Amino acid sequence: MNRTVILGTGAAVPNKVLTNKDLETIVDTSDEWISTRTGIKSRYIAEDGETTSTLATEAARRSLDMAGVRPAEVDMIIVGTTSPDMVMPNTGALVQKHLGASNAFAFDVYAACSGFVYALTIADKFVKENPEKKILAIGSELLSSITDWQDRNTCVLFGDAAGAALVSGSNDGERGILSTHLHSDGCLWELLYIPGGGCVYPPSAEMAEKRDYCIRMHGNEVYKHAVRSLTEVAQEALLANQLDPEDVDLFIPHQANIRIMTKVAERLKISPDRVYMNIERYGNTSSASIPVALDEANRSGRLKPGDLVLLDAFGGGFTWGAVMIRW
Ligand code: ACO
Repeated sequence: MNRTVILGTGAAVPNKVLTNKDLETIVDTSDEWISTRTGIKSRYIAEDGETTSTLATEAARRSLDMAGVRPAEVDMIIVGTTSPDMVMPNTGALVQKHLGASNAFAFDVYAACSGFVYALTIADKFVKENPEKKILAIGSELLSSITDWQDRNTCVLFGDAAGAALVSGSNDGERGILSTHLHSDGCLWELLYIPGGGCVYPPSAEMAEKRDYCIRMHGNEVYKHAVRSLTEVAQEALLANQLDPEDVDLFIPHQANIRIMTKVAERLKISPDRVYMNIERYGNTSSASIPVALDEANRSGRLKPGDLVLLDAFGGGFTWGAVMIRW
């Protein structure tokens, strides 16, 4: 059967590491509070010259190297991001330029932390139509550029990173993407949003002074919805494939909070040894969190051919989704 397979994965992070101890000097917080409430110990933060498109390009290049595919062979680039280099052009177009992927068309997907799962789902649909196409699905964020560094409720959570997967069609047995599942609920947008910078509240001196271009979040409410939606969509993916939780070899949830991931895994009855967690070193990197984790699992040999991998995302919008993959 023709399926979309992942030919290569890649990830990239900025050079600078910001620890919880460093944050203690910026806002009224403690390593103990951040570690116990979130599981985060450190995160990567971009410095001059590092942008969403440069990180995305580095991650994409690594996925191409792994696959042995040249940039000119790429047909399409989809970047999930909430922190684009600019409003226009789209980040995908900049990645296309940096990579020299002269034959690709490119665009962004704007689905917050679900951006990579949305991008991979779109890529899967294109590959189903044209199995020979080679598509880069990327999640890339410079959340540090839209973080309010005076708000301890949010600034301790986020980090910068990018992850990429190069996909194409294959008839290699049962390997590949088995199913994709996407959802949104715009009625709940006010629980996690960026007030300024769009046409409703355009950039202004006042907006900048109030830091209204930054992420605002009702953490407790987001937490409850994240646990519920991540659980439900994972169950939907299992049901669609007539699989049981114990069939899942590796569960890769969005790395938002260790307590959210633990609770979701408990509800799904997936044992902790099969849940991938790297939030300790990255923080919440939004759309980059799942592809970065996937790349780590891939390169470290954690993934074996034939393994069942379940990706599970949740983010602002709200948006959420799952992808079931036979590795
Ligand atoms: N350091 C110390 N104290 C803090 C900090 C901090 N960094 N932040 C908040 N506090 C205080 C609060 O002021 C509050 O104090 P009070 O009781 O005196 O009022 C207390 O800690 C508890 O605050 P809560 O907000 O209730 O803490 P909670 O246990 O809910 O943890 C957290 C907060 C970590 C944000 C959690 O709610 C969470 O993870 N929510 C989900 C986030 C998420 O999943 N986002 C996903 C998408 S992100 C995206 O799309 C970009």
